Amino acid sequence: MHQGHDLVLILDFGSQYTQLIARRVREQGVYCEIRPCTDAAPSTRDALGRLAGVVLSGGPSSVYDEDAPPFDPAWLDLGVPVLGVCYGMQLLAKHNGGTVERADRREYGPATIEVREDGLLFEGMDRQNRVWMSHGDHVAAAPDGWSVLASTDNCPVAAMASPDARAFGIQFHPEVTHSVQGERLIRNFLFSVCGARADWSMGSFVEEQVARIRERVGSDHVICALSGGVDSSVVAALLHEAIGEQLHCVFVDNGVLRQGERESVAAEFSEYDLTVVDARAQFLDALAGVKDPERKRKIIGRTFIEVFEVEAARLKDRVGEIKWLAQGTLYPDVIESVSFKGPSATIKSHHNVGGLPDHMRMALIEPLRELFKDEVRRLGLELGLNEWRVHRQPFPGPGLAVRILGEVTPERVSLLQEADAIVDAEIRGAGLYRELWQSFVVLLPVRSVGVMGDNRTYEQAAVVRAVHSTDGMTAQVARLPWDLLERISSRVINEVRGINRVAYDISSKPPGTIEWE
Ligand code: XMP
Repeated sequence: MHQGHDLVLILDFGSQYTQLIARRVREQGVYCEIRPCTDAAPSTRDALGRLAGVVLSGGPSSVYDEDAPPFDPAWLDLGVPVLGVCYGMQLLAKHNGGTVERADRREYGPATIEVREDGLLFEGMDRQNRVWMSHGDHVAAAPDGWSVLASTDNCPVAAMASPDARAFGIQFHPEVTHSVQGERLIRNFLFSVCGARADWSMGSFVEEQVARIRERVGSDHVICALSGGVDSSVVAALLHEAIGEQLHCVFVDNGVLRQGERESVAAEFSEYDLTVVDARAQFLDALAGVKDPERKRKIIGRTFIEVFEVEAARLKDRVGEIKWLAQGTLYPDVIESVSFKGPSATIKSHHNVGGLPDHMRMALIEPLRELFKDEVRRLGLELGLNEWRVHRQPFPGPGLAVRILGEVTPERVSLLQEADAIVDAEIRGAGLYRELWQSFVVLLPVRSVGVMGDNRTYEQAAVVRAVHSTDGMTAQVARLPWDLLERISSRVINEVRGINRVAYDISSKPPGTIEWE
């Protein structure tokens, strides 16, 4: 909710870094939103609230492509400072009569720019600056009257400024950490050029959202499916802060959760109106004999809805009509659906909870719609949630069912829970939990021969998986220390009766996926 805040808008031309620019701007305390580049400019600067600046993002096209994304040049006439990054710079150049050419050598990766002139943008920065480049075209000649602020051997105009110092173009990406003084450049643009106010903080977000939720909900009741994961926990905490007893949380134990999950949720949210549903038998009965991964997912989704429906009906009997459903939708999900490219090719095919049936349609409250994941975590801390919970790794909606290859039985679930708890403890103990995207165990549908003491064993095999990732779309295998892997293996085999072999998964994504099913 940016009403009252200074706003920086990013027009997205399809760069992989667009969201990163938005996060960097928000890290400076300035509220920032992403719009598709096809959006028409507002009729006046004030039509969008206090618009402090506009950023034109990078993108895969060439400004001379026939199918280059359309752009409304009226954005440049609003009297608002503009920063063009990469493609955005080329667009500025073309629009103002400069020349854009295909570069002799495409540049991907680190480069050193030579800063010739500060021009506000480079204030306080080194003359020689390491930056991150990623482009095919470049500006060969700046528009008439514009000054060239920086260049590289390969790129004659690496940065340029308009005569009135209100529009700037940069060929490199200041939002990527490889651009060593990128943060300084972004600060210079926001504060020296745009004069933006840093009035966006988690504290003010809580205050505004609380007021807004109270206003929308009035005396109505709100239901929230609380899974114990980061997003639903933060939504619940925010709503509880706003409307207290009018919030009703439902936690469903589906029998394929991690060890101790139900107890930890019950303890942390004990002051909430929380219904803990023990639906383990219902889920495990429905899963009995099922080996196919997609069928498992469907069964879990469908059973969840059945259970939730029963609880919602009970709640209605207890408190009256429930008009609202609170959900933890985040900003990346929202942007995905507004991008000019349409939903990207890599969009996830799975979602936590399949949509609720029509007759259960409630109005949605999605107070995290404007936030990135790291902001949601900060918000959770601000609201007093347990640090452990706020920094949890992602966990799939269908839970351990997609980590138990083959049939999901109560015995196999507890084997995996035990092994998973050991891996979790060891990874945390090694101080690696937070730097890994995910670390977990998979139970295989095979047995292998082993020897323990004087006895031959013939038991199940488990696989440890640990990956680095920024968004789950791609992932790299984590190079866990060898002694940690050995300790995990030895503990799992010694402590979990029924597992006699541990392997480490060394596949990246692609071509592997993170989960095994
Ligand atoms: P994959 O296995 O597709 O996973 O590489 C990418 C990310 O998504 C999570 N994941 C799921 N999350 N429901 C979810 O809510 C699912 O069915 C599901 N499958 C995978 C996975 O843990 C990883 O973070």
